[in-house]
Amino acid sequence: MTRRALITGITGQDGSYLAEHLLSQGYQVWGLLRGQTNPRTSRVGHLASDLSFVDGDLTDQASLVAAVDTVQPDEVYNLGALSFVPGSWQQPELVTEVNGTGVLRMLEAIRMVSDLNGSRHADGGRIRFYQASSSEMFGRAAETPQSETTGFHPRSPYGVAKTYGHHITRTYRETFGMYAVSGVLFNHESPRRGTEFVTRKISLAAARIKLGHQKRLDLGNLDAVRDWGFAGDYVRAMHLMLQQDEPADYVVGTGRMHSVRDAVRCAFACVGLHWTDHVVVDPALVRPAEVEVLCADSRRVRAELGWEPTVDFAQLMRMMVESDLERLSREPVHGGLLPAAGR
Ligand code: NAP
Ligand code: GDD
Repeated sequence: MTRRALITGITGQDGSYLAEHLLSQGYQVWGLLRGQTNPRTSRVGHLASDLSFVDGDLTDQASLVAAVDTVQPDEVYNLGALSFVPGSWQQPELVTEVNGTGVLRMLEAIRMVSDLNGSRHADGGRIRFYQASSSEMFGRAAETPQSETTGFHPRSPYGVAKTYGHHITRTYRETFGMYAVSGVLFNHESPRRGTEFVTRKISLAAARIKLGHQKRLDLGNLDAVRDWGFAGDYVRAMHLMLQQDEPADYVVGTGRMHSVRDAVRCAFACVGLHWTDHVVVDPALVRPAEVEVLCADSRRVRAELGWEPTVDFAQLMRMMVESDLERLSREPVHGGLLPAAGR
């Protein structure tokens, strides 16, 4: 029988790659769309004829129950979130509702629909649940690299809410026997990345400067270090995590560290420019409670699930810069997306 997947956050970067991956695996894919008018579907426009959509919002319990009941999914991927970390200081309560309590609501929706259908199996219901946890939960980490056993020390309302979502997922697994797991994913990027995130802000600026549309790039902390991978690789890990005999949480990353300075140097080199001629540090873009270094110890996901990344940092930056150059040649004003804002 065709397996059904429900994806929250399908209009986001990961949602679009995951939808492509699940369709390629023969799934019937449903996406949860929020907003009553004009949802942002540009990232999945090319898949529209293959996808089905259902309305719902992670802040609204009834809508999630109705969505799960309509779709009757075998697998639910909860990728929906307000994902820009500094934005969580502007709207901390909303971020807590969506990224934290929203996870609880989806777990409850799955429980309720499973009970209604009398489909309580030995494993607590047939619906498997994936939660998009984040390396931001490590925050000011006690050790580098970070693994499944590293403690959490989040540094923002975003990180705190994700930590709640992580623990409530584990708690429902342990309490109700649900197949509910979290992938603790490190930063992953792509040409579909939002322009507010640093890699895409850089790739878009490098392309614009090369084409003469912009002169300067304002950035914050150039010393921040991240473990950046390609989003297309990371959605394979999400799917693998729901195909196991036993549910378990995994850390997913490349295990390679690069600074923001490395990212600018690499992107500007792709277009034959020197970054120091264009980049200006704006203290207003430096985060007050910064997460300085994140790097994954992903030995477990590699050993147990056979997951490996296929795109390295230099390839990733080149892919993003080339995509932005191509996009700008079609839509010269801003490459089809709004200019980057905020820190
Ligand atoms: P993204 O591009 O910002 O996409 C976020 C998605 O969440 C969008 O589809 C958005 O819908 C949806 N959403 C926002 N508020 C919602 C609500 N109230 N109810 C339902 N959906 C809502 O994020 P991403 O990069 O794809 O990341 C996917 C998930 O992984 C997120 O949970 C993120 O926190 C987590 N994560 C990401 C990374 C990374 O490096 N990318 C790393 C670790 C964890 P609209 O289009 O309607 O706004
Ligand atoms: N966005 C941004 N803009 N970041 C900047 C800038 C700038 O102008 N200048 C320096 N940075 C630094 C930030 O201070 C941070 O240390 C680093 O670049 C990465 O910032 P983002 O790309 O905004 O990502 P993030 O690490 O805060 O969060 C992303 O990864 C998390 C996983 O670790 C998001 O995708 C989160 O949703 C995700 O959970």
